[in-house]
Amino acid sequence: MDGYTYLHLGETVDPDRYVICKYRVTSKLPIEKAADAIAAEQSTGTWTGISTLDPEIIGRLGARVTDISGDVITVGFPVEDFSVEVGSVPQILSVIAGNLFGLGALDGVRLEDVVFPREITSQFKGPKFGAEGIRRMLDRPEKPLVGTIVKPKIGLSPERTAQYVYEAGSGGLTNSKDDETLVDQAFCPIEDRTVMVSEVLDRLEEEGHRMIHAINVSARTDRIVELAERVQSWGARQIMVDVITCGFSAVQALAEDPSIKVPIHVHRTMHGAITKNPLHGVAMLPFTKLVRMCGGDALHIGTLGAGKMSADVHEDSNLGACLGDDVPYRGMMPVCSGGVYPGVVGAIVERSGFNVQIQAGGGVAGHPDGVRGGAMAMCQAVDAAYEGVPVQEYAETHRELRLALEKWGLK
Ligand code: 6PG
Ligand code: MG
Repeated sequence: MDGYTYLHLGETVDPDRYVICKYRVTSKLPIEKAADAIAAEQSTGTWTGISTLDPEIIGRLGARVTDISGDVITVGFPVEDFSVEVGSVPQILSVIAGNLFGLGALDGVRLEDVVFPREITSQFKGPKFGAEGIRRMLDRPEKPLVGTIVKPKIGLSPERTAQYVYEAGSGGLTNSKDDETLVDQAFCPIEDRTVMVSEVLDRLEEEGHRMIHAINVSARTDRIVELAERVQSWGARQIMVDVITCGFSAVQALAEDPSIKVPIHVHRTMHGAITKNPLHGVAMLPFTKLVRMCGGDALHIGTLGAGKMSADVHEDSNLGACLGDDVPYRGMMPVCSGGVYPGVVGAIVERSGFNVQIQAGGGVAGHPDGVRGGAMAMCQAVDAAYEGVPVQEYAETHRELRLALEKWGLK
């Protein structure tokens, strides 16, 4: 390549001075050569030797491949390779998840994990509310949060959306949210929807039930903070943003703007294009870490193998990345969503524990008794899991749960 090697096998790099990444590599090249090519491309090298590279530059800024175990390589990037600018995910991603995906010598490469040194984590602020802040708003300190995604995902008017939210809340749900494709369409203008949903949330509160609804503000970068400010002024208690389509910086802009005073629910629509192939792309785990750094208060992490979306091998580590105390931020509420119904709640809670938000769209709106009955069935399933009572036994004395189990079964 350029006469230099980036292989430093067996060395340990100082975790306070390096960003340490693990990549799974598939290549017809010997893995050492593939690893060398990745480290070169992502730091100081290119496809040929260059007269401008010298030992001082490569020694200070060159990436180091410190381990090769099977098809997984460990690469350390010196912290000096990263911007001193405060918290720049675009620049971080261009180093750890940039050109390497296009290298012709590789059949596949997948970023499995990344660990950042304090010098980088301290550039980010993390969640303003986090799991605890959301729980405080809801006055629900321990039990799993139970939510719904208003369904159909598009089509309901503001009045019907508000009616759905009211029924969901009167059935006991703590959370509801817009779906990812709904923002500000003519059939459901965001202002009318936000105002009407806020009114029913006030009504529920007067009736003794606290609930929040996330309004989707996913929009073009230059307008997203302004849109979030407007939905707040119309009464929104929570906002939602699609992180892959809007970008990590959109989450960060919302979280760090002092005018935004409500929690941010982070959706990951389109992530499957990047995370699903086990041999190429980026696993959800690095994305989860970045969303928490940027200030997401809650993040979709899938259903831990129980719902309609494919399970990621890292889903358990994602829970740790949401709530672990190895980073200097508040914990972020993990959200399990996608094909959830009362019969899978027990399987989710078994893996997630109680610090989780479980939500269902079809599993609420498809209940034989309608949205209110569906909400009750979901809450009953969560209560059964929380109290450690087998769900079928709980269903003997809870009609809505029994109907749900009869319709959809038990995982
Ligand atoms: C969401 C997500 C997602 C899911 C559904 C849930 O908005 O929560 O997009 O996780 O696919 O919208 O709907 P169902 O519960 O009907 O699958
Ligand atoms: Mg959805």
